[in-house]
Amino acid sequence: MLQITYHSRAEASFARSDFASLLSQCQRHNQRDSISGLLLYDGSRFLQAFEGPRDLVDRCMSRISLDARHTAVHVHSRRLITEREFGTFAMTTISQGENSPDHLLDEVKGLIAGVASPRLQALFIGFAAMRRPLL
Ligand SMILES: Cc1cc2nc3c(=O)[nH]c(=O)nc-3n(C[C@H](O)[C@H](O)[C@H](O)COP(=O)(O)O)c2cc1C
Repeated sequence: MLQITYHSRAEASFARSDFASLLSQCQRHNQRDSISGLLLYDGSRFLQAFEGPRDLVDRCMSRISLDARHTAVHVHSRRLITEREFGTFAMTTISQGENSPDHLLDEVKGLIAGVASPRLQALFIGFAAMRRPLL
């Protein structure tokens, strides 16, 4: 299996209210392609890791890089893995709303507990710890 992690900047035209439909689109496609992962969005930036069959993950990354809803797509890592590290759901995100920043940070820590690379873990923890308004 292949795992890719990247971050990007949401286009100014991408509204917070657009996130729910983006997420359900990801979940639909990923279910079909046996891809799972974690997608974080803080109102201006995305951080996503996804994993699954090699060809399908590469193809998914090609579609994602061409998507006009975000820009400055930067791939952090592309690793071969033997077991899924981000869980088994098509695409997970963290809940928003009344949760405190500390609670959200804990939630992210729980979701990345199975990630083997300390560097990758630090990337997700750092993103969540920025405590932008949505987080
Ligand atoms: C931040 C972000 C994350 C995305 N994540 C996924 C994903 O995990 N899986 C996926 O299939 N598409 C994802 N997409 C959507 C793709 O870029 C693309 O719009 C979608 O796969 C459409 O494919 P289609 O042309 O076959 O309908 C993402 C888009 C953005 C902006």
